[in-house]
Amino acid sequence: MLNTSEANSKIFKGAQDFLPLLGTDYIELYVSNAKQAAHYYKTAFGFQSLAFAGLETGLRDRESYVVVQDKIRLVLTSPLKAGTAIGKHLDDHGDGVKHIALWVEDAEVAFNETVSRGASPYMEPSVEEDEFGTVKRSGINLYGDTKHIFVERKNYNGPFLPGFKKWETHYNPAPIGLKYVDHMVANVPLGHMNKWVDFYANVMGFSQILSFDDKDISTEYSALMSKVMSNGNGRIKFPINEPAPGLKKSQVDEYLDFYGTAGVQHIAVATDNIIETVTALRDRGVEFLRVPSTYYDTVLDRVGKIDEDLEPLKNLGILIDRDDEGYLLQIFTNTVQARPTMFFEIIQRKGAQSFGKGNFKALFEALEREQDNRGNL
Ligand code: FE2
Repeated sequence: MLNTSEANSKIFKGAQDFLPLLGTDYIELYVSNAKQAAHYYKTAFGFQSLAFAGLETGLRDRESYVVVQDKIRLVLTSPLKAGTAIGKHLDDHGDGVKHIALWVEDAEVAFNETVSRGASPYMEPSVEEDEFGTVKRSGINLYGDTKHIFVERKNYNGPFLPGFKKWETHYNPAPIGLKYVDHMVANVPLGHMNKWVDFYANVMGFSQILSFDDKDISTEYSALMSKVMSNGNGRIKFPINEPAPGLKKSQVDEYLDFYGTAGVQHIAVATDNIIETVTALRDRGVEFLRVPSTYYDTVLDRVGKIDEDLEPLKNLGILIDRDDEGYLLQIFTNTVQARPTMFFEIIQRKGAQSFGKGNFKALFEALEREQDNRGNL
C-alpha cells in the first residue's frame, strides 16, 4: 500500500493525460419523485434551484429538477408515465445515481480515447443547442447500470444544459457550505473490484492511489476491500469497494442486495467548515451515523493536535483521521432513500489526502448496528 505522498507523486507520474478532466459536471439521480427529492435537497442539504425540464419545456416522458451548491450540481429525474427505461431503473434499483458526468474540454476526444481503450459506448458524441449556445456530450458504460457522461460546455452560457429552463422560485433555503464533490464511491460484487480498477487505469488513465484490505477494514462480522482511483490532476477520485468474506453479511452485500447490482454507494462533498455545515444539516433533519462517544476518549491520542475544539466534534459525531500530510474531519449520513443503499459523506480536509482509514473500524461497527436494526446482518 502506498502512503499518501508516494501516492500523490504517483498520480502525476503514473497517469497518462489522454483524458483531461476539469471536474465533476453533474450527478444525475433517478428518483421516484423528482419534485419532492428536489425539495429535500434544497431544504435539508441547502441546494439552490437551478434549472428544470419537463412537460413545460416539451418533454413528454420525464422531468428533471437541477439543484446546485457551489460546484455541486445534482439532477433529479423521474418518469412521467409507465413503461420507461427510467421507471425500469427505479424498479430495479430504487433511487440512485445513474449518470456521473465529467466536465471535459472535448467530449468527442474523451469518447474516442476511452472507447479506443475498451470502453463500451453509451452515448455517441452529440451536440445539443438552444439560444444560449451548444453543449456536446458523449457517454460510456460503467459498473452496473451506472454511466459516465462527458460534458463539453465551453460554447454554452445557459443555466444548465440546452432544453432546461431556469428554475425560478420564491423558496430558496440558505446554502450550508457544501463546496464540491471530493470523491464518489462504488460498491461492486465480490471479485469485481480489480476489473473496475483496471477499467479506470486502462480506459480512463487513472492511477491507483490507495488500497485497503480486509485487515484494515474489518469488524467482528464483516469486511470490505477498497482501492482508490484518481485522475491525473487529482480532482476526480473514485474508491471502489467489494465485500470481503465475513461472518455475516457485509455492508457492501446489503447494498448489492437492495440496489440489485453495482452502483454508487456514497457521494462525499467537501466543506470548509464541517462544524457549521453538519450543525445546519442536523437542524434541517439530516440523520448521521453515530459512533460510540468512547471514540472521543482516545481519538486525540491517535490523531494528535487539531485546530478544532473536540467538544463540538463529539456533540455532532464528526470523525477525525490523520495521514502524513495532515488531518481530515468526516461524517456519514444515514441512507437518503427508501432502500438502504446510497448515503452522503461530509468531509473537511486539512492537509490529509486520504479517506479516513483510521475511522473505518468505529464506523463500520456503527453501520452494522444500523444494518442489524434493519434485519440485514
Ligand atoms: Fe468516502
